[in-house]
Amino acid sequence: MHAPAASSAALADAVAQKTLLRFITCGSVDDGKSTLIGRLLYDTKLIFDDQLAALEKDSKKYGTTGPAIDLALLVDGLEAEREQGITIDVAYRYFATDKRTFIVADTPGHEQYTRNMATGASTAGLAVILVDARKGVLTQTKRHSFICSLLGIRHVVVAVNKIDLMDYSHRVFADIEVSYREFAKKLGFESITPIPMSALTGANVSAPSPDLPWYRGPTLLEHLEQVDVDADLSAQPMRFPVQWVNRPNLDFRGFAGTLASGTVRPGDPIVVAASGKSSTVARIVTMDGDLDAAHAGDSVTITLADEVDIARGDVLAHPTARPEVANQFTANLIWMEEERLFPGRSYLLKCGTRTTPATVTGLKHKIDVNTLDELAAKTLGLNEIAEVNIETGAPLAFDAYADNHDTGAFILIDRETNATAAAGMILHGLRRATNIHHHASLVDRSARARLKRQKPAILWFTGLSGSGKSTIANVVEQKLAVMGQHTMLLDGDNVRHGLNKDLGFTDADRVENIRRVGEVAKLFVDAGTIVICCFISPFEAERSLVRGLVDESEFVEIFVDTPLETCIARDPKGLYRRALAGEIPNFTGVSSPYERPEDAELVLETPTGTAEELAERVIEILVAKGLIERD
Ligand code: ADX
Repeated sequence: MHAPAASSAALADAVAQKTLLRFITCGSVDDGKSTLIGRLLYDTKLIFDDQLAALEKDSKKYGTTGPAIDLALLVDGLEAEREQGITIDVAYRYFATDKRTFIVADTPGHEQYTRNMATGASTAGLAVILVDARKGVLTQTKRHSFICSLLGIRHVVVAVNKIDLMDYSHRVFADIEVSYREFAKKLGFESITPIPMSALTGANVSAPSPDLPWYRGPTLLEHLEQVDVDADLSAQPMRFPVQWVNRPNLDFRGFAGTLASGTVRPGDPIVVAASGKSSTVARIVTMDGDLDAAHAGDSVTITLADEVDIARGDVLAHPTARPEVANQFTANLIWMEEERLFPGRSYLLKCGTRTTPATVTGLKHKIDVNTLDELAAKTLGLNEIAEVNIETGAPLAFDAYADNHDTGAFILIDRETNATAAAGMILHGLRRATNIHHHASLVDRSARARLKRQKPAILWFTGLSGSGKSTIANVVEQKLAVMGQHTMLLDGDNVRHGLNKDLGFTDADRVENIRRVGEVAKLFVDAGTIVICCFISPFEAERSLVRGLVDESEFVEIFVDTPLETCIARDPKGLYRRALAGEIPNFTGVSSPYERPEDAELVLETPTGTAEELAERVIEILVAKGLIERD
């Protein structure tokens, strides 16, 4: 038997000669997916002798195919291993014929594996969607097709499998074709190729079958060998995301990266998308000497005729065909993390070589992956998909994902865990983003603070309800007032009667509560005020979001650390009694979490002192930090 053709040299060859096809198979084991992949590997002779011997043995023992070899065992064996993994796993398998090399992404078909499927589909040029001839187009067929279209796959094969169990019926096949085409109209595929087959008997997988005399099209393997899925990236507008600035000595300054699309030549005019600065390409440098032209996919270093300010993450483009530049856009998002998405929470967004803070500013609707219905939602959970508005900390140069998979795709990263939280596909920029500008004030924040003869700051009190935040904060404010300091007190109970009266106590609403309060507190700091905030603020992510809104020295976090039992015993508003009786849902400490601060400037264990004594400790730390002076 042959060794797999998946050596890196063979793959590199296939890529160079454009004979590589990446595709994804969608379906479940019940549809015969594993059998089909096993059949492709078997027919293209990519199974080793010893594997084959083991397979024959296993087939007799565990197989479901009688005396024949159960090809599914080959694939399922690997799958079991894979399920041990904790990361997002996609099994990639390689096989080759004389004409092409193939990489097939094999992902589990159930809804709870949507993120795996999306990962597999993101690099695929074609999808093989399995339909069981006995069952026809099912909900899961639609879900798989939708996710493929969302990830930009334009070519699908509808593999109508197990046709042997329906007596190789032309009628059955034709009905499935009609219903699939009808459903897929709205998904915008460029080509849909239905093929009747039996992965089990091998009919029409790599060889035509005498049992299907009415079928005149290609076998699956023939189709995979011939199909043309490559969009001509070189003919598209030029995009060169700068990966790093190469400056080995004072005489050379080049910008290294991989050309995402288009073609570039020395002498071409270029602009830096975000800044609009322009220049001309001087040289295209590679390890093997200078090039006359670079095309999509080439890794090169570009030098320019002028000194232009360019950093990692910038995108170079042709002046007449620029990407959009905005800090707000609409996108489809696939949520990939256990921890839910909360609009308003800060994530890191990575688009190409650029990384910037970002928040989801609006969840337009989530999409029921089975019915494609649009549903209202406030948060997203693992494997859910939604259309969202996103705002980035810095303007981003991008294209619609439909136009360019490189410059139109991004991931969101959880700032606490560093895990990939979501994959996103940009739809379009938001116009309002380009029409709103910052106004520079004539009187600035330091002028306002000088007039008040004080240093502004945020004193952030966090802790359980009833922990004593407001009581201590009130004494602190009184002491500051006596010292002639200008202060403002923001308190959960009060702000929730006005600005935030539309918010409740779900995790999502608490995130939004703190985001808004943070923005208000920042405005008070800009006004030169010491703003004292008392909010449970149960999540570390939002507390650090507010911390990041002002200078490091201007934020003082005070954790009022009162044991839950003490809060319950005090129960100043009678809320714990009702929460424990199940009358108030999502009550912090009872039925909703509180994440203890790790890096608070001050921890006050309330049972250890009176409000007066604890407030004095707050004043002491303000003095120690140089925010106030004692007379
Ligand atoms: S936060 O979690 O979003 O920061 P915030 O500090 O604004 O909460 O409001 C907390 C106050 O709302 C509590 O002191 C309590 O009086 C009241 N409250 C009402 N329902 C709840 C609840 N489910 N969980 C916590 N506090 C609640």
